[in-house]
Amino acid sequence: MSTPMAALTEAAARVAMFTTAVQLGLLDAIDREPSTVDDLARRCGANERGVRLLLAALVADGFVEEVPGGRFQPTAPGLASLHPLLPIWDQLPEAVRTGKPALDMDSPDTATEMYPHVVASLANMWRDAAVRTAELLPAATRILDVGAGAAPWSIAIAKQNKHSRVVALDLPPVLSTTKRAVAAAADVADQFAYLAGDVFSMPLPVDTYDLVIVGQLCHLFDEPTCVRLIDRLVGALRPGGTLALLETLAGGRGAAVHELSLYLRTRGGALYSPETYQKWLRRAGLDAADVVEVNGTPAIGLFTGRRPSA
Ligand SMILES: C[S@@+](CC[C@H](N)C(=O)[O-])C[C@H]1O[C@@H](n2cnc3c(N)ncnc32)[C@H](O)[C@@H]1O
Repeated sequence: MSTPMAALTEAAARVAMFTTAVQLGLLDAIDREPSTVDDLARRCGANERGVRLLLAALVADGFVEEVPGGRFQPTAPGLASLHPLLPIWDQLPEAVRTGKPALDMDSPDTATEMYPHVVASLANMWRDAAVRTAELLPAATRILDVGAGAAPWSIAIAKQNKHSRVVALDLPPVLSTTKRAVAAAADVADQFAYLAGDVFSMPLPVDTYDLVIVGQLCHLFDEPTCVRLIDRLVGALRPGGTLALLETLAGGRGAAVHELSLYLRTRGGALYSPETYQKWLRRAGLDAADVVEVNGTPAIGLFTGRRPSA
């Protein structure tokens, strides 16, 4: 178990390592092309031993990986774009004092500023969980991915079922990131189409989809808004179709910090209990199944509800 001193040192060191790699241009350099320690030290005008130790620590923490030839590359593209998110945490004292969040990422305007920089890294976190989720979900041909981001869940489904057709829905400025992620995933681009808009106000097709998938979206909103969202999406399912929610499990591994970050950056976002998600699905007329845990840390649950056949 980590002691307070070890936990603080690790957290402070992690922020400093990441910031140093961004500020020296090292992360951007290896994002463009995997490089060796000496090459990076030369290109970034830095001390060779310093670069070697920094890279070793970044490897140990999963930011960077070593590839053949003693070269290093980031574990996900565009990592440096996460750096502007760090100062939000400086506003935690004010948010705790006043109850007012530093950001409202639950509003489309703020979401469109932030998510294009974040969703590729989020998708990378769910890579294995998405493969497992695709195996667990019932076979589906027509799929709607709501708040798709970099589309981790629907890309995994499309890879597994070449007959599936996905419509990825997101706010207009985020969809260009979605398209890039789909283009980068081997061989699924022709299975995807795109729908740009705000899921709460745009017209949605009725009685259409075998599967509507909603990954990491509900937690941005308060309970009445989640209920409204689920009610809207149930209308898009064909009879017999499935609504699938993927959400961090309240009380699970990683949940406490996730919930604090929602307090800091949304007006009403929260992590809800498995019983609450199941209650919402049943209230919307679906047959709710038991939750299945699909990811370790943070612990992510798959909640499904099936629309009864006509
Ligand atoms: C936390 S990210 C999750 C992305 C992806 N589903 C995943 O699991 O990695 C939330 C996504 O929902 C999108 N989003 C937020 N509010 C939305 C709205 N009102 N209408 C459509 N999409 C929205 C954001 O742009 C973002 O891509």
